[in-house]
Amino acid sequence: VVNRVPLLAGNWKMNLDHLQAIAFVQKLAWTLKDAGHDVADAEVAVFPPFTDLRSVQTLVAADKLPIAYGAQDLSAHDSGAYTGEISGAFLAQLDCTYVIIGHSERRTLHGEDDEQVKAKTAAAVKHGIVPVICVGETAEDLAEQGPSAVPVAQLTTALEGLDASADILVAYEPVWAIGSGQAATPDQAEQVAAALRGVIASVLGEDAAARTRILYGGSVKSSNIAGFMREPNVDGALIGGASLDVAEFSSIVRFQK
Ligand code: G3P
Repeated sequence: VVNRVPLLAGNWKMNLDHLQAIAFVQKLAWTLKDAGHDVADAEVAVFPPFTDLRSVQTLVAADKLPIAYGAQDLSAHDSGAYTGEISGAFLAQLDCTYVIIGHSERRTLHGEDDEQVKAKTAAAVKHGIVPVICVGETAEDLAEQGPSAVPVAQLTTALEGLDASADILVAYEPVWAIGSGQAATPDQAEQVAAALRGVIASVLGEDAAARTRILYGGSVKSSNIAGFMREPNVDGALIGGASLDVAEFSSIVRFQK
């Protein structure tokens, strides 16, 4: 049995500038240390805006903080005439471990489709950054097709062409649960996570399916995290609003099953 270390990850979205980021990460590190947190029990990651990454890198490296970090998006291209884009090579130089790809806000507000998500996933892997591939259905999809159909289709496309050994993460974020205060039930999350693990098994093989962590995201907070973490196919969470408060985020990281 492969031991998948839980990952509790904060997606800051467009919040916290680089000065606030430094204060936040320092305080988070102190809070977790005080609580005796062991990263072997649960890995902690933050996803600040691009403009914060250099500051976070410097702080984490200088103080050897047990906090991983990544970007919220990347370009599918390596370099060139792509005004406003950030390449995987740049993120790799900033020691980003992870990069979020295909968040529903990118899909909805910036028209990202499954093909772009696939291209960005490949770009991340190429540059040695672990993609956190986000999938999830809208309330309308849920009503019309049930919970798994859309996330399964999204993930199937995203994984096409990847090597079986690729290091990836999947985040199941039902769109109706994001920022709504209306989280999925642990049972709903488990059902879709199991279906997504099945997709990984069929596209990349059983080994990849066994080792890949699948996160749940959507209105996660300290009062509901334990229920998700009890589910066998849910290996962590991607947290938005509740990750912006150090005390709240720390208690999510320190979830008790
Ligand atoms: O990526 C995490 C996010 O979309 C969930 O947001 O605020 O519902 O935790 P929130």
